[in-house]
Amino acid sequence: MVRIDLGIKGKKVIVTAASKGIGFATAKRFLEEGAKVIISSHDENNLRKAYERLKNLGEVNYIIADLTKPSDVENLIKSGYSTLGGLDVLVYVTGSPKPGNLFELTNEDWINAFYLLLMSAVIAVREAGKLMKSGGRIILSTSMTLKEPLPNLDLSNVVRLSLAGLIKVAARELGEKGILVNGVMPGWTLTDRVDQLVKDRAKREGRSEEEIIRDITRDVPLKRIGKPEEVANVILFLASELSTYVNGVLIPVDGGLIKATL
Ligand SMILES: NC(=O)c1ccc[n+]([C@@H]2O[C@H](COP(=O)([O-])OP(=O)(O)OC[C@H]3O[C@@H](n4cnc5c(N)ncnc54)[C@H](OP(=O)(O)O)[C@@H]3O)[C@@H](O)[C@H]2O)c1
Repeated sequence: MVRIDLGIKGKKVIVTAASKGIGFATAKRFLEEGAKVIISSHDENNLRKAYERLKNLGEVNYIIADLTKPSDVENLIKSGYSTLGGLDVLVYVTGSPKPGNLFELTNEDWINAFYLLLMSAVIAVREAGKLMKSGGRIILSTSMTLKEPLPNLDLSNVVRLSLAGLIKVAARELGEKGILVNGVMPGWTLTDRVDQLVKDRAKREGRSEEEIIRDITRDVPLKRIGKPEEVANVILFLASELSTYVNGVLIPVDGGLIKATL
């Protein structure tokens, strides 16, 4: 791989939902570039395992926080800030909402999804925005469902869409302080989450997991599922010194899967 100095060395970074998948891969890439990183998620066992896998790469700590609990999210940003001695980058990733369609999901499912997918992001962005100085970066990892609904993922299709609004609002309101706010929209990415979705769909449709994976990649122009590192690298770019005038955008990382032109 070609080495470029991204200006990430020494940056103080919090990555949420980082025990696995996209969040974990992102924390790993920041550590490889010399950042000081706090990883977070709600399952202490998973978080410890992730910490063990990352600790030899650089300066990493962990803070337990359940993103569905507003007080946990506030505490994460405040404690992360004091542990790191500042905050340069917030990478917000979240847990996966329950699969299901309009007629399967309960009122409670919708309310839970509101806290998991939206309220946590509002609080994290607001609290980080209060503490960050000029040059700060906030990057929200969302989903391709912001551009194109996916079957049986109605909580993501509906609730997560508000993150597009949050990114625009925060980019304007924090832009004045010199803080850039952007997002990425991953497409199919090979994580535990996708493994679960494939199993769920295979069961529902009475088909094999291999058939479902073939179906998924058939629609992807690159004919393969993405890797978590491929999402992490775009996040890293948005946090880097190579990206100084990109603000309020959402970048798809989907192998070309989204069909919309704009
Ligand atoms: N993979 C894809 O193809 C894809 C595509 C588009 C969007 N996305 C979205 O990207 C996000 C990450 O997906 P992924 O595939 O990386 O998932 P993953 O591998 O299943 O990892 C999910 C992460 O979220 C954490 N988490 C779950 N619930 C949490 C909660 N209440 N509070 C704090 N942390 C929580 C988990 O930590 P614990 O150890 O605490 O469980 C884990 O670290 C999801 O929102 C997913 O919907 C994924």
